[in-house]
Amino acid sequence: MKYYEKNQIENWDKAIEEAAQVIRKGGLVAFPTETVYGLGADAQNEQAVQKIYVAKGRPADNPLIVHIAHKEDLMKIAKDISDWVLHVTEKYWPGPLSVVLNRREDFCSAASAGLSTVAVRMPDHETALALIERSERYLAAPSANISGRLSPTKGRHVAEDMREHADIILAQDDLVLGLESTVIDARGSYPVILRTGCVTCEMLAANVGRAEIYDAAAEKPLLPGMKYVHYRPRATVMIVDGNLEEKSEKIQNFLETEIKTGIFCSEKLSKNIQCKDVVTYRSLNEAAQKFYATLREFDEKGCRKILCEKVEQTGIGEALVNRMENAAEGRYL
Ligand code: TXA
Ligand code: MG
Repeated sequence: MKYYEKNQIENWDKAIEEAAQVIRKGGLVAFPTETVYGLGADAQNEQAVQKIYVAKGRPADNPLIVHIAHKEDLMKIAKDISDWVLHVTEKYWPGPLSVVLNRREDFCSAASAGLSTVAVRMPDHETALALIERSERYLAAPSANISGRLSPTKGRHVAEDMREHADIILAQDDLVLGLESTVIDARGSYPVILRTGCVTCEMLAANVGRAEIYDAAAEKPLLPGMKYVHYRPRATVMIVDGNLEEKSEKIQNFLETEIKTGIFCSEKLSKNIQCKDVVTYRSLNEAAQKFYATLREFDEKGCRKILCEKVEQTGIGEALVNRMENAAEGRYL
């Protein structure tokens, strides 16, 4: 594996060119996006895509997102594209929105895990876009972590998980969002959100007139991927909710009996807490950006428990609470 770090390399362009060659030859390249790091392979090379599944230990029925560098390329991959889909991709691409559509018969099925659909996204990151463009391929790319573990937001996290599998890691730790893209089912007359993200239900509804979050409890057929558990550290995670006083008290009581606890909370709440391992944030955006890296950091420090203050479920907060609940397996303190 080659590890290229942008701020330690003189000619980043050359590193991208070398990575593009690896893609053309059927290898695996980990690269930054605005959300989380991806592990990319030529989407139309079946053997290359297969390597992704092996590297991640990913179940064979969980499909991958195909990444493109030009909006028009959507038409070469998917079909039956409604006007509202063109409208939202025009608005949010490049950006954290993946659209699930019917796949064209002439587009390779390798990334689709046996489905007739395909998820497509145009990432908003110069290195990701340059890699796609230079390789002259579309990149099938899941998050660059071992299946079921936390998505990586730092180059060294990718190296930890993918050391033996990635041919090249392009490390550039400037990921601005920190949570995975919003995935929508775009086959119907309005968006149905399969995975929450930065592009929220309200934003989509404002653009299309109507949008829904997929209700896993309803009697609709379950889409693959949704049944798999994601975003889990080794430590036991619990969410802390309530008003400031209640949260402070719950946490202080907990700390009296539990050693080795990491706490992820707002700067405001941290002032009421005495604990060595506290990571704080001042805004929702900062909380989202730091979330995965903080959980990894607490794991590295040997924390056995992690307490996360519940954030407001507006904007990116909706996706952040979703990832927290996943990590906590629904547990509240
Ligand atoms: O932000 C992101 O989306 C990152 C970066 C690298 O682009 N990628 C990412 O990929 O998070 P992954 O594989 O970790 O998550 C993709 C999700 C999975 O839940 C998968 O089941 C779903 O998208 N998905 C992909 N193709 C699908 C399809 N054809 N139908 C339904 N769900 C699909
Ligand atoms: Mg993932």
